[in-house]
Amino acid sequence: MRRAVCPGSFDPITNGHLDIIERASKLYDVVHVAVAINRSKQGMFTVEERIQLIEETTAKYGNIEVEAHTGLLVDFCRDRGIPAIIKGLRAVSDFDYELQMAQMNHGLSGVETLFVPTSPTYSFLSSSLVKEVASYGGDVSHLLPELVNRRLVERIAERKAQADAQADAQGA
Ligand code: PNS
Repeated sequence: MRRAVCPGSFDPITNGHLDIIERASKLYDVVHVAVAINRSKQGMFTVEERIQLIEETTAKYGNIEVEAHTGLLVDFCRDRGIPAIIKGLRAVSDFDYELQMAQMNHGLSGVETLFVPTSPTYSFLSSSLVKEVASYGGDVSHLLPELVNRRLVERIAERKAQADAQADAQGA
């Protein structure tokens, strides 16, 4: 079985991530999607929610396994016999940091990193930007799977309602 991993925060998964995962799924027998748990950063979605969104939106590819991971990515790879990390490159600005990580990971464990150029349609796209635009009421439905867009709009509305209720309670 030829295996590869697509790692990331996926908070939430975007059409840009899906593009890379789909292309990786055509090159490898099994593609693991590793959702990084970052305890110091509060996400828009919990890791469990992110995993569920990834599972639902990648089920159509038929060879994707989604898991959370803590610690080093190279340990995740070693434990599962994964020799390759797949990373999307959106622009030259991504390259500096990605090169450092690729060289570090190779030096630590021999795991290779393969870069896939992002589709130009998504070269500006990031989860952070999508969340920011959506939180100001902007339409990002063309950048996300339909389910993810729906959940994001709901989550932003919930957060706004909570913030309003808190403000009311403090003002009372
Ligand atoms: O979506 P992101 O936040 O850009 O993903 C970054 C991620 C999770 C792929 C990267 O931070 C990572 O691999 N973290 C795992 C911890 C690790 O192995 N760090 C050393 C990298 S050389």
